[in-house]
Amino acid sequence: MSTQIEEGTSEATLSLEPLCRSAELERGWGEALWLETTQLALFRTEEDAFFATSHHCPTSGAKVMARGILGDTVVDGDSVATVACPLHKEVYRLDTGECLNADSLPLPVQRVSAAAWSDEDHVAASLALYQQKYRIADEILGDIPGYLPPEGGFFLWLPVADGEQAARTLWAQAGIQVLPGAYLSRDVDGINPGAGFIRVALVADADQTRAALTRLRAVLYDETGG
Ligand code: FES
Repeated sequence: MSTQIEEGTSEATLSLEPLCRSAELERGWGEALWLETTQLALFRTEEDAFFATSHHCPTSGAKVMARGILGDTVVDGDSVATVACPLHKEVYRLDTGECLNADSLPLPVQRVSAAAWSDEDHVAASLALYQQKYRIADEILGDIPGYLPPEGGFFLWLPVADGEQAARTLWAQAGIQVLPGAYLSRDVDGINPGAGFIRVALVADADQTRAALTRLRAVLYDETGG
């Protein structure tokens, strides 16, 4: 994550932009990436501190800082993390961007936090939402012969007489898009094991999922018997 200052407000506010997972950065190295039109250099130090700076060296404008050499030095009695430009070896503080060995422009920095990098709350929230949708599917479809609750992922494989026909019927009569199971499986000994299924993606929110599965049941199972 990186902190960004949003302009156009009476007070500068900080916002977080997800960039990559902390685990994707190797200790003691930098990585370059694009944030919209800006090239950033992300660093993870050997001490597990995270920093983001411009990828452009302020001395020359060369896009090289992510390949810089990480290190540390003592400033006013405190140890500070540094990066040395790989070209001419100007040394910049990673926390302030100050150039320590020349009268160079500072390196633009953005402070990032390990807590933000390791934020996994959205994963737990997503898992809880899918579990809720599995329960909705069980509730609406659980008594259909051959129905099996998914053991993972976010797809339902529902038994039907003919997957292609069921997909067409659902689209025409209920406005629901699903994939015929045969489109996702190969013939085995001349038989396509997916032909008798449709694949339903549980990607809508819980209310839409409930409404759609209720319509699906009415069209495929209650009216035609699948
Ligand atoms: S290009 Fe970075 S110090 Fe010269």
